[in-house]
Amino acid sequence: MRALQFTEYGGPERLEWGQAPEPHAGPGQVRVAVRAASVNPIDVKMLSGAMAQDERPAQPVLLGFDAAGVVDEVGDGVEGAAVGDEVFGRGSGTQAELAVLDAWAARPPGVDWAVVAAAGVAGETAERGLRLLGVEAGTTLFVDGGAGGVGAVAVQMAVARGATVVASASEANHPLLRDLGATPVLYGEGVVDRVTDAAGGTVDAVFDVAGKTPAEDLVRLVVDPAQVVSIANFGAGSAGARVTGGGDDSRPVEALALTASLLADGRLEIPVQTFAFEHAADAYRTIATGHVRGKLVLVHA
Ligand SMILES: NC(=O)c1ccc[n+]([C@@H]2O[C@H](COP(=O)([O-])OP(=O)(O)OC[C@H]3O[C@@H](n4cnc5c(N)ncnc54)[C@H](OP(=O)(O)O)[C@@H]3O)[C@@H](O)[C@H]2O)c1
Repeated sequence: MRALQFTEYGGPERLEWGQAPEPHAGPGQVRVAVRAASVNPIDVKMLSGAMAQDERPAQPVLLGFDAAGVVDEVGDGVEGAAVGDEVFGRGSGTQAELAVLDAWAARPPGVDWAVVAAAGVAGETAERGLRLLGVEAGTTLFVDGGAGGVGAVAVQMAVARGATVVASASEANHPLLRDLGATPVLYGEGVVDRVTDAAGGTVDAVFDVAGKTPAEDLVRLVVDPAQVVSIANFGAGSAGARVTGGGDDSRPVEALALTASLLADGRLEIPVQTFAFEHAADAYRTIATGHVRGKLVLVHA
């Protein structure tokens, strides 16, 4: 099979869409024939070597943490999945022709492959953040970085729960935030005042998905600093905020089921930009800018 891979750390020029050994579904997993796979900021971090201990990888590294496709192999102990099922979910090495998923949900009928492929990491992360913050009907939430992959899903999930949402983005993404149901504010210097004005005071919860605003500023928006949860500023704990990287906080099966149901009834829409797998480097260059709208997804040409 072909897979996106690299043998030396660096930029998108290191990427190769080449041959790799076929993966197989282990216990509790399924393998899919991939129709689409999303690109996440973590892929760029892996490629750059920022997350590595070694100077160069011992073997080719495959990329990608979510995908959508058709099940072609079912691991031991899996119930409720069969060859031929159309699913989306989370795994590793997903930017490939075949990929193993650890958690998945059925593709809602009629929802585009690229859109469901975009929903794995973003859906799980958004559900996790909102659950940790206790977001429910009546909550006032600030999402810092609301137009990106995780942010756009978090805004809509919160709106679907009946929360009032203020979200930050660059000016160009304010119309998108309005469409998603949030009150837009500009990020950067003065953002705390702008959020306070928009919300009419402090907010109940802050979901920091960008990691750019100092945590010391974000905690001023809430009564209890622990009501700030960050997925991108791993130093935010020093200001009393909570940081989550997944692990025990994660409930991927429930999160993916929720994401699927919101996609199915039209309460969640994920804006996607698609790229052919052969041109994955273009998607990596785009996401590395840190300024994207919605999700970037690799598809077969
Ligand atoms: N801990 C975890 O479990 C976990 C899980 C998933 C992702 N992450 C991390 O979370 C971050 C976001 O992921 P993503 O997939 O949503 O990224 P993304 O799709 O690349 O989106 C990034 C967003 O950040 C916004 N942004 C840029 N500068 C900003 C600033 N100064 N203040 C506020 N927002 C700003 C951008 O808005 P504009 O385009 O309008 O400039 C863009 O929409 C990444 O660092 C990723 O690695 C962590």
